[in-house]
Amino acid sequence: TAALFGASLTLAVGAHAQGRDYQSIRIGVDVPYEPMEYRNPDGSLTGFDIELGDALCERAELQCEWVVQAWDGIIPGLLSRRFDAIMSSMTINEERRQQVLFSEPYISPPSAWFAPSSEGFTSADAQTLKGKTIGVQRGTLQDNYVTDLYGSEAQIRRYATADDLVIDMSAGRIDIAFLDFPIGKTTMLDADQGDYVVVGDMIDEPKEYFGDGFGIAFRPRDEALAERFNQALAEVREDGTYQSLYDKYFGV
Ligand code: ARG
Repeated sequence: TAALFGASLTLAVGAHAQGRDYQSIRIGVDVPYEPMEYRNPDGSLTGFDIELGDALCERAELQCEWVVQAWDGIIPGLLSRRFDAIMSSMTINEERRQQVLFSEPYISPPSAWFAPSSEGFTSADAQTLKGKTIGVQRGTLQDNYVTDLYGSEAQIRRYATADDLVIDMSAGRIDIAFLDFPIGKTTMLDADQGDYVVVGDMIDEPKEYFGDGFGIAFRPRDEALAERFNQALAEVREDGTYQSLYDKYFGV
């Protein structure tokens, strides 16, 4: 028994060091973040990330289960094994690379400023936003960016979810929001609840803040798992699955 125990202990430690050979995984996601990840009226999850993630799991022959997790605890949730991957519009950047392993980017949207048209903003530089209230989702790259570049001129309100931010915008509690472009487009420009505009240009520089596109995050040891997802991503790009999802969510 002692020998057996010793052997399985060695095996377990070895498997851990190399990363496991998964048959099923759990994927952490913060919702709502429409159109990337949100709920159908019946409560089930949908969105570009969810549908793409499910397609990748099918390709990688993995059983995948989505786990809803608030954004501010999403990296700790991965590292503490609450789930095995994060697919939640997470931008690949240096700061996060210190903690997690990323897949290849699967989409690279810019950020943008959104405001009620009644505010009359024509630009969103720090001088224009002096004394104004800016809304961001807490712990996002948009939070880092406005904190560093606008923090001394403007007041910043940080929200747990993108939806809370949009609600406060419609209630007039913030003057302008800084968001991943697809989220502001869907929840403000395309939603019939107020008259919103994009202020100024799309922003994806400097890379130090805006990173290298959205990636799926894994624990650093799970290189083999990340590779399976990269392979699956190449396959869904090849066979048209990626394009049809892109058209469904972002097409005209
Ligand atoms: N792309 C931004 C970032 O990585 C925000 C992502 C927020 N995602 C979400 N599902 N709430 O910082």
